[in-house]
Amino acid sequence: DKGNHRHFMLKEIYEQPEVIGHTLGHYLSFNNLQVNLPESGGLDFAKIDRINMTACGTAYYAGLTSKYWFEGLARLPVDIDIASEFRYREAPLSKDGLSLFISQSGETADTLAGLKYCEEQGQHLAAVVNVRESTIARASHSVFPTLAGPEIGVASTKAFTCQLSTLASLAVAAGVQRGHIDREREKQLVRDLSEAPRYANEVLHLEDTIAKLAHRLANKQHVLYLGRDTNFPLAMEGALKLKELSYIHAEGYAAGELKHGPIALVDENMPIVVIAPHDRIFEKTVSNMQEVAARGGQIILITDPKGAEAVGMDEAEIIVMPEMPEIITPIIYALPIQMLAYHTAVHMGTDVDQPRNLAKSVTVE
Ligand code: M6R
Repeated sequence: DKGNHRHFMLKEIYEQPEVIGHTLGHYLSFNNLQVNLPESGGLDFAKIDRINMTACGTAYYAGLTSKYWFEGLARLPVDIDIASEFRYREAPLSKDGLSLFISQSGETADTLAGLKYCEEQGQHLAAVVNVRESTIARASHSVFPTLAGPEIGVASTKAFTCQLSTLASLAVAAGVQRGHIDREREKQLVRDLSEAPRYANEVLHLEDTIAKLAHRLANKQHVLYLGRDTNFPLAMEGALKLKELSYIHAEGYAAGELKHGPIALVDENMPIVVIAPHDRIFEKTVSNMQEVAARGGQIILITDPKGAEAVGMDEAEIIVMPEMPEIITPIIYALPIQMLAYHTAVHMGTDVDQPRNLAKSVTVE
């Protein structure tokens, strides 16, 4: 049932404040501002020296985002692979390593094959899954559910932000267990994460603005997405969303990588979506943005009031997000990215909930 919404995808976008709240509530205790890990299957991050992650598509981008969190908050090195590559790579794994699989369906064939490989290697297996009874969940020692509820739209939306919510909680837990996050910091991080549902709700009000901006992407040949740090995986997720929904060719790049090749593509027919909250690397991303603007690239900037003021661009080209704690930016900035792809597809009249050639769950290799 789509409720009042035109598509399941839009309904699922709008469910995010609620399901992000449920998911965070499973891992965080908001009363005593503590993180706790139910069903962790005896997992102790203090005894782990490395995580290797395996996933496909959107779940892979959630994992890649969490690499920044695990390494930054818990000083825990993360290797991450696309499952179809990992399964044939025969990667050497650390004896004290944790193998983590991220999957909405829990049935993705390549991810499952990666899990089998890690099982043979005697690894501790953990899964971040949305379907509790799935094959990947049942085969894992530790199960970390995302409480997104059933996701019908082929393009993943709420499962992604719930994966991020779960992984951020895990990274904070790892930081605490490994002694890199003290009690005060833990309280602050839990407080920051607990704000996510409220910000997600606030950002949904930007839909009309975003729908207007989507006109600029509709019927274009190519679109580039740029970001740094945790917004780099989000740039790739944004490009994937646009490709699958609107069939427009899109690429997500680390903003600093632009001058190593892709800037050659830029001309006045190339819209560029820049994801840049006003953070410690904002200036760096903006200077990359100015390089593309100087070559005629049409910019859509997603930033906050401080960022908007600093760039002095025409307001019509900026999606102004509320200022928010750093740890939740990839979760909350995912929403305008999803709405932009959604409205571009609606303008172009494609089948949003069931894009051509795609299946919701990829159970064959
Ligand atoms: O069920 P999974 O999370 O394992 O699925 C992984 C990918 O197939 C999935 O995220 C796919 O990329 C989506 N269509 C993205 O919107």
